[in-house]
Amino acid sequence: MIASAAAFLSGLWHRQDALPDSGAAAPGGSAFARQRSDHRSATDGIYVEWSPKTLSRLLAEELPGVEIIVVSNREPYIHNRADDGTIALQLPASGLVSALEPVMRSCGGTWIAQGSGSADRDTVDEHDRLSVPPANPEYTLRRVWLSEEEIDGHYYGFSNEGLWPLCHTAFVRPLFRADDWEAYRAVNQKFADVVVAEAGREDPIILVQDYHFALLPRMIRNALPKATIITFWHIPWPNGETFGICPWREEIIDGLLGSTVLGFHTRQHCNNFIDSTDRFMESRIDREHGSVTLRGRETLIRPYPISIEWPPAALATQGTIASCRRAVRARLGLADDMRIAVGIERFDYTKGILDRMAAVHDLLTQHPEWKERVVFVQAAAPSRTKLGAYEKLQSDAIRLADAINAAHGTADWKPIHLVIRHHDQREVYELFRAADVCVVSSLHDGMNLVAKEFVASRDDERGVLVLSSFAGAARELSEALIVNPYDTRAMADVFAAALRMPETEQRDRLRLMRDVVRQRNVYRWAAQMLIDAARIRRRETIQALSSED
Ligand code: F6P
Repeated sequence: MIASAAAFLSGLWHRQDALPDSGAAAPGGSAFARQRSDHRSATDGIYVEWSPKTLSRLLAEELPGVEIIVVSNREPYIHNRADDGTIALQLPASGLVSALEPVMRSCGGTWIAQGSGSADRDTVDEHDRLSVPPANPEYTLRRVWLSEEEIDGHYYGFSNEGLWPLCHTAFVRPLFRADDWEAYRAVNQKFADVVVAEAGREDPIILVQDYHFALLPRMIRNALPKATIITFWHIPWPNGETFGICPWREEIIDGLLGSTVLGFHTRQHCNNFIDSTDRFMESRIDREHGSVTLRGRETLIRPYPISIEWPPAALATQGTIASCRRAVRARLGLADDMRIAVGIERFDYTKGILDRMAAVHDLLTQHPEWKERVVFVQAAAPSRTKLGAYEKLQSDAIRLADAINAAHGTADWKPIHLVIRHHDQREVYELFRAADVCVVSSLHDGMNLVAKEFVASRDDERGVLVLSSFAGAARELSEALIVNPYDTRAMADVFAAALRMPETEQRDRLRLMRDVVRQRNVYRWAAQMLIDAARIRRRETIQALSSED
């Protein structure tokens, strides 16, 4: 193993400037992990150019023959029946999916997720499986069917009216209903049963995704004690006092501590989880190594900043910057010299869409020289529309856009273009490439991949990213113009500065950010977790052997 790891390393490692470490690689363990960790701590820094190829090689070298199972609520491919009876394929607007899908294409394995499309049942085999991507299969999608009641209680209820507002500081009150909690528990158990049924061996690596499955790690652990369970929480974790209002706080923490490794986007979220555990659970906490031991079993708590594939697949089919601008201007009826600012996301109250529009109003009020010279295009994908808070956000946004357009607009120009529909990746990248400014002003966000996608889309090294200090991405993309999204007046001044920024400064900032996104791409995100998993599995093997002696 050491010889093969050495060969692996010699083919992989490149000398580069050191990047700040997320803290994911701890010393000790396998030759690969140990050498990597040693190298990373050196001042001259060495890092791997992570790609599908290097990730596959990591698996082959460090985890030969391993079985990978991913579990998420959202599926990567949705089949819908159109009005004319044909079946259309939809790729969902989900940061989780856009991050994990390229990883699964590279690693293979089984992805277990809820079947949510109107033609999903017509496209699976008798075991509810299908090979994906449909055009060029590389892994298996196993769909799980939920009833309307299960979806209402699990997805809309506890996940999105309870945990979502609890974990995001956006001042929307979480709702905790006992019936939702029961549905949440039952759906977690249903997925645990499917994981056990799909597992072909007693020690798979299971990647549990997100807040829909806080109880799943413990349920899997009970059924498959030798599994390596890596849970990734894609949203923030609040401080202990805030988390403490959840009536089922102990069960949630206990469920998550069934994991071998529990990952968050930032160290702050890890610290918040450890503090919550300290408050509510009898456990042993090792803050130095970032671990919690509950009933004799240790869980590592680690930051793994999620990212996007590099280069992004959607970029390959894009035209030149000039042609993207022409297409967007023609579609929106804009003059050739009109400057364009964009915001692109799901219609969610955490994204700060209303405050951003208010900042456009402030811009036009405080900096009237921008009247008739700039438009703000807000592309918003309808999301969770069954829930009151989301329905209200959408109607408030329409009203606010109309009011701002009425206050500032002219017969030929309206400052805000609110486009409420799903945009596919091709359209999203076209908008990014047409933009002078991209605004990501989330009130709170685990990471926010839109910010990284914008940076990746600009191979011309032009454009300005305005980024909320309350998005995890702000820790890595520090050359963005960082804003407090609650301060609309200050945000308006930043918009004006962005519109005035010289091209040389745009280039200098984007260059640095593009380096970060390229180096810290999604393959690195997955690799960090798999390296930690390999190290733990090796240590467990040694422990098992020595206890036999
Ligand atoms: O960030 C959490 C997350 O689960 C991401 O996958 C994604 O951006 C979003 O929420 C998707 O939400 P939903 O699956 O509810 O549409």
